[in-house]
Order: sequence, then structure tokens, then C-alpha cells
Amino acid sequence: MRPTQSKKLDLLGIRDLSSAQIHELYALADRFMEVLQQPTRKAAALAGSTIALLFFESSTRTKLSFELAAKRLGADVLSFSASGSSLDKGESLLDTARNILAMGVDAFVVRHKGVGTAHFLARHLPVPVINAGDGTHEHPTQALLDTYTLLRKFGRLEGLTLTIIGDLFHSRVALSHLHLAPKVGLRLRLCAPPTLVPPLWYRLGWPVYHEVQAALEGADALLVLRMQRERQAFPPLASWQEYSRFYQVRAEYLCENQVLLHPGPINWGVELDPRLQTAAQSRILDQVTHGVAIRMAVLYALLRG
Ligand code: NCD
Repeated sequence: MRPTQSKKLDLLGIRDLSSAQIHELYALADRFMEVLQQPTRKAAALAGSTIALLFFESSTRTKLSFELAAKRLGADVLSFSASGSSLDKGESLLDTARNILAMGVDAFVVRHKGVGTAHFLARHLPVPVINAGDGTHEHPTQALLDTYTLLRKFGRLEGLTLTIIGDLFHSRVALSHLHLAPKVGLRLRLCAPPTLVPPLWYRLGWPVYHEVQAALEGADALLVLRMQRERQAFPPLASWQEYSRFYQVRAEYLCENQVLLHPGPINWGVELDPRLQTAAQSRILDQVTHGVAIRMAVLYALLRG
């Protein structure tokens, strides 16, 4: 979190968070998990605040969990959807946001296909802005909730090996993990076809694999990424079938103790073997639960921390 204007904090990327701030967010999420486990309890920490959700790209988990997180903290939520808004009439993004701000909004959660959109709004708005995904750039709350899921499972992050498999080139989740791992002591392994590894990533010091089984051997956890077809001009291998044949994570590749993560949405049969839908190793739905607590922690930290 970094101040872009005096007296306000934004969460634009993991890059801006210190190791101590990340651990504070995990500790806050622990507190909010207790609130979530008692459905009749609602924290009133953000009572009287209004959070605006500006989603210009599709979303299920991220949007709903920010909404629930805000409501569980007692805040009101304004949910904007681009279609049917005055953007159709030529209104700019900044004008739209300023008009919503004029209604009395205390923070914005922004998702947009444009890289840097949240950063742009943060520079021009006097209230906290949270990046809920900007194109292929960053998705900080997803990386926080993924690692929080590992922390709750293993009781530590330091020294764990996490293999990230899939569309590294287009994934904002992967980039946020690249920034996060060194701050919490996670060891990464990266696995993708050569066409889906950004060339500079070979120089980061993490091992890069082009073979799934080798990338999984001895790893504590795996994070499988969706093929970002909407951002790809061409298939990553000769065809989609070939991608699934060579890079799909198959049930028999996983050891009993390995933890399976995926940010969703999942394309079963493409990046993940459908037989893994009921796998004991899967913590995919826990990620969704933890996403609410992590987003409560982020909202609380930015508005009251
Ligand atoms: C991710 C996203 O939107 O970047 N999903 C999510 O937020 N749960 C990953 C994806 O779309 O593949």
C-alpha cells in the first residue's frame, strides 16, 4: 500500500506492499475469518462508508467477494456496470468516477482490461483505489488470498515451494505472485510452453519448466492458471488440443500432500483434469472463502488502518 495523494492509501499492486504489511493483512484476515464463521456476526468497522465497485471486465468471485466483504464490515456498496452507463454516450472513465465520487463514495474497487487503469484513477481521486485486476498486469488481492490459503493450510509460507502452471504470459495473477513470493519466503517454480513464458522471466532466478510432471515433483503446492484465450491472438501450441495434451494437470500427477489452487474460472479439460473436481488435495473453494476475509482486511486497512 502506498500513498498516492496525501492522507490516502491505495492497493494497486503487490509491488507496493512491504513484507510487514502483507503479514498484517494475513493477521487481519484471521480476525475476519472468525467473523465470517459466525453468520449472525457482522463487524461494524466500516459502518457509514460506501464502497463503489467499478468492474469493466467480467467477474464472479472477485466482484461478489468485495461486495460481501464490504457488507460484512457494515459498509454500503454501489455496483457499477459499464453496459447501460453513460460510457455509451461518450463519458470518460475519469468523469464517470468523479461523478460517482460526488455521491459520497469512500473507496473504489476497479477492474479494467487496460493496464494501469487503477493507477490512473488513484492519481486523480482523493479516496483509496483498489486494483481488482488491470489487464495482464496485477491482481494483488488474488495473490494475497492464494498465499493466505497456503498459510492456513501449512501454518507458514517461508520455504514452501509453489509451482505456477499455465498462461504465465497473460496472467496478472502470476505477475502478482512474482512480486509476492520473495516478500514471504515462498520458492516459485514456473511452468508453461516456451511461448507463454515472458522472455525476461528466465532471468528472475526461478526455475522455468516446460514439463508439468518435473515441475510438480517435490513441490508443496501448485497454482494452475486459466488459459487467457480472450487475450491471446494465437493458440500457445499448435492447437488447444495440444496444449491440453501436454500441459493439462492430470490427477495422477499429484501427490497426496500437494495442495491444488486455481484462481478460477476453471476450464476443466483444458488446464485441469476433470477428475480433480473432487480431489482431496484441492483448496480451490477455500480460496474463495478466504477471498472474502482478505478483501475485508484490505478494505479495513485502507479505510481504517
Ligand atoms: C483471475 C482474473 O480475473 O485475473 N480470476 C479471478 O479474479 N478470480 C484469473 C482468470 O481470469 O483466469
